[in-house]
Amino acid sequence: MARNGGGRWVCGAALGALLAGCNAAPEIRSASAPAATAAATATPANTPEALLARMSVESKVAQIIQPDIGSITPDDVRRYRFGTILNGGNSGPYGNDKAPATDWLKLADEYWEASTAPLANGEPVIPAIWATDAVHGHANVPGATVFPHNIGLGATFDPDLIRRIGAATAVEIEVTGLDWTFAPTVAVARDARWGRTYESYSANPELVTRYGAAMIEGLQGRPGQPGYLGPGKVAATAKHYFGDGGTAQGVDQGDVNGDLKELMAIHAAPYPAAIDAGVASVMASFNSINGTKMHGNKPLLTDELRGNLGFQGVVVGDWNGHGQIKGCTNSNCPQALLAGLDVYMVPEDWKALYNSLVAQVKDGTIPMARLDEAVLRVLRMKAQLGILDGEVKPSARANGGKWELLGSPEHRALAREAVAKSQVILKNAGVLPLKPGARIEVAGSAADNIPQQAGGWSVTWQGGGDLTAADFPGATSIWSGIAAAAKAAGSQAVLAPKGSATSNPDIAIVVFGEPPYAEFVGDRKDLAFRDEEGLALLKAYKARGVPTVAVFLSGRPLWVNRELNAADAFVAAWLPGSEGAGVADVLFGAVQPSGRLSFNWPGVCEGGGAQQGKDTLFGIGYGLRYDTGADSLPALSETCNALTHDTGAVWFASGRLGAQVQAVADNALLPDLRGSGNGIVATGVDRRAQEDARRIAFGPGSRFSLTGPASGAAFRITYQVTSRPAGPVTATAGGKPVDITQGLSVAEGKGWREMVLSAKCLGENGGKLTFASEAPFAFQIAEVTRDEAAAGAECSF
Ligand code: BGC
Ligand code: BGC
Repeated sequence: MARNGGGRWVCGAALGALLAGCNAAPEIRSASAPAATAAATATPANTPEALLARMSVESKVAQIIQPDIGSITPDDVRRYRFGTILNGGNSGPYGNDKAPATDWLKLADEYWEASTAPLANGEPVIPAIWATDAVHGHANVPGATVFPHNIGLGATFDPDLIRRIGAATAVEIEVTGLDWTFAPTVAVARDARWGRTYESYSANPELVTRYGAAMIEGLQGRPGQPGYLGPGKVAATAKHYFGDGGTAQGVDQGDVNGDLKELMAIHAAPYPAAIDAGVASVMASFNSINGTKMHGNKPLLTDELRGNLGFQGVVVGDWNGHGQIKGCTNSNCPQALLAGLDVYMVPEDWKALYNSLVAQVKDGTIPMARLDEAVLRVLRMKAQLGILDGEVKPSARANGGKWELLGSPEHRALAREAVAKSQVILKNAGVLPLKPGARIEVAGSAADNIPQQAGGWSVTWQGGGDLTAADFPGATSIWSGIAAAAKAAGSQAVLAPKGSATSNPDIAIVVFGEPPYAEFVGDRKDLAFRDEEGLALLKAYKARGVPTVAVFLSGRPLWVNRELNAADAFVAAWLPGSEGAGVADVLFGAVQPSGRLSFNWPGVCEGGGAQQGKDTLFGIGYGLRYDTGADSLPALSETCNALTHDTGAVWFASGRLGAQVQAVADNALLPDLRGSGNGIVATGVDRRAQEDARRIAFGPGSRFSLTGPASGAAFRITYQVTSRPAGPVTATAGGKPVDITQGLSVAEGKGWREMVLSAKCLGENGGKLTFASEAPFAFQIAEVTRDEAAAGAECSF
């Protein structure tokens, strides 16, 4: 059964009509040359060209090195004069990921002052600029407005709303003194198993194209018009060029396969409009295309992006993405610059990379012309931002330190509007909108859970975890929104996370969904929604004869046939962010539902084919309204083999990782615990069957982690050691690192054995296990399981 928006919508069935008829699309101008506009305002001595002419090789190289604030001090900035700096998702000012907004501005001033301190050698002084991932509002900063993630914005079919969100986000970024955001993501996610699906507006390239351009205009203003990149505007980044949403099986950072022309028609589609909209930068993607990593892909980075598409701005790398090019390391990689990268995002290894690049320019490995070109692009971006021309320190700028603008009532109202417009009603057997005067019970651990409704990239990289409502000052949970709306409607609402607070409520709202995640940590092997908390609550209410509304929080469409069957109404709420009240606006009918799917919703749990049109339950454009009457669904099949075959306890066996398990070496994904990155080399070895086990080789000071479901009390690991470690090896599972060197040494030459790591030695015992080795070392692993029975067990090797 496939359902489409066809006929249900006043705007018509076809996608083009949905867009054209429902909302004005952003005006796409003919190509403009954004780089030319700003230099015009600079004084002759400060033009990018004039500055470049006075720079040494060392200062030029520093302009294209982008370190993370976690590994530099203002003194490093003063000494090296980096062109740009970033804060990764896990970095906050002064080593504090949850640092208050005032610390951000203070540190921005410190970097500014360090980068503009006079130079004695006659070289020009060039201010550094700071970039952040403001991917759904300036959400790294506590107290900022957190807008719905892109998947929710895609469901609004409202490019003008997206433009206004970009404008509000830019102002909040400026309040804290930053200049540049790594947004919007214009990935066209084609397999919802991908952990970054929520960063994608839609599986449809045409929609992503419109929404991406609208976001860029909101963030930057319009090229050629007054105010472009001026006060209240920041530089934007279209990312990740290209193919991020098209990897095989939705594996993050994986390989995209197929005919290049066809791939471009989908995954490169949003870039021409982004370039027309004047986007200041484009980020290279981690993925490879037909085997070639994008960071080293000259035909696509230079010939296509610069040549055919005419992009003149900055091509920035992704987090050590250059280190993944064949023959490169994080600290040595002329290949990336030669392929067309302009700025290396090199969070930690900046000093070694700086030294190797300086040497490679001096020995001719890198032509000066290529370096000059990259540096000029960075300088032009700064000229466009106005900072080469008498700009003052961040706190003294127009919006700097205007704290009333951070999370302002106007911005929060805008976010609430976006939340309401993003709600997609998938089923409504007549229980919505809620009746005035109803006695309402609100259940589910997600109901009053701001970190969960915010999702990943919220204060921290992964979001969730130990975050609480206190880390989101000014935010409103879904429950609080319902409570306020109920009061206004003369209804009574009670919060009962576990259900059954009231003996016979008129209706129950059950809020449940995915826990937060970001990037590869969110990759899945299938689309089954496994957590049964919500399902159990829905069934318990049903058994008591209480009608239910399911409110589902997720970063992607998932197989929820069981929940759809159990609930009387089902709302896809996505990841709404800080303004949970927008959910109640729709439930109570204060706002007419208008959200429609921008992704296909799957009707089967295996595979990830819905975005390719296979196994679709609800098509793009689908979403119910209140004025078209009740719509109950026929009973859906509840068969899902993946559910019965994977309990979450097996993390690695028979040469495969469990369905919800990831293996990573720092930021390099090791699909099926194979591959290399950041000093780890994982290869297949045979224990009982071909390549059913792995040899994990550690370079000096390297580590790898497995992440998966936190069920089970201990890890049981089948392993062997052929030669003992030459230095300390540790295991960590959330608590302090445990030295396991002795245990591994005892195991030397004794064949396959079992290691038990329980709370007794690991202390905390969560969903992540990390092995680290100081010296080169290798061991083999055949199985990793989580074991309930071993709760009280001693650790053994
Ligand atoms: C992500 C980018 C992000 C960067 C900086 C990378 O891991 O892929 O989207 O902009 O980190 O945080
Ligand atoms: C950073 C993120 C980055 C990721 C890459 C994290 O430690 O905080 O910004 O995207 O590493 O894997």
